[in-house]
Amino acid sequence: MGVADANTAGSVHGGRIMYLCDEVAGIAAIRHSGRRVVTAGVDRMNFLHAVLVGDLVTVRATVNAAWRTSMEVGVRVERERVQSGEVEHTSTAYLTMVALDDERRPTEVPPIAPENQVEERRQREAQLRRSYRLAEREQIVAGRGGQ
Ligand SMILES: CC(C)(COP(=O)(O)OP(=O)(O)OC[C@H]1O[C@@H](n2cnc3c(N)ncnc32)[C@H](O)[C@@H]1OP(=O)(O)O)[C@@H](O)C(=O)NCCC(=O)NCCS
Repeated sequence: MGVADANTAGSVHGGRIMYLCDEVAGIAAIRHSGRRVVTAGVDRMNFLHAVLVGDLVTVRATVNAAWRTSMEVGVRVERERVQSGEVEHTSTAYLTMVALDDERRPTEVPPIAPENQVEERRQREAQLRRSYRLAEREQIVAGRGGQ
């Protein structure tokens, strides 16, 4: 991370990290679907440690679950203090990406077939987050009299 990524105190802007997460999540979703994708939403984004100017940031993304046209992508961010080699987990984010066809309409994506217990857990937890998200939307719409 360079000075252009940071505030005057030398901490990297959260938005800069969010931008990297969005980019990397998009690449993971494109690889899975073979389509162009858009970010439909971000379910969660936490910042456990500050990232500083001079830190090396690594962003990894996995498609946790796929539904009809949408995918949940989990993103893990780590910072490395390059001189000491100390690595810390700084952020986790969950993004929903939607695959689009050539007319930019949502289009079906291949299912995910978990191959081990970690992938099964990720899929299960992604399903839980989606259920909460949909339930929340239903309750908000109901609370507004169906609008
Ligand atoms: C995301 C988008 C394509 C959904 O379009 P839509 O007309 O609502 O389409 P649908 O109702 O068919 O929903 C398509 C999928 O998106 C999901 N979706 C829609 N809104 C969502 C939201 N806010 N959060 C998470 N998922 C969402 C639906 O659950 C559905 O998933 P599924 O097919 O796997 O069940 C549309 O809202 C869009 O283009 N948004 C702008 C995206 C964008 O530009 N992102 C960058 C912002 S700068």
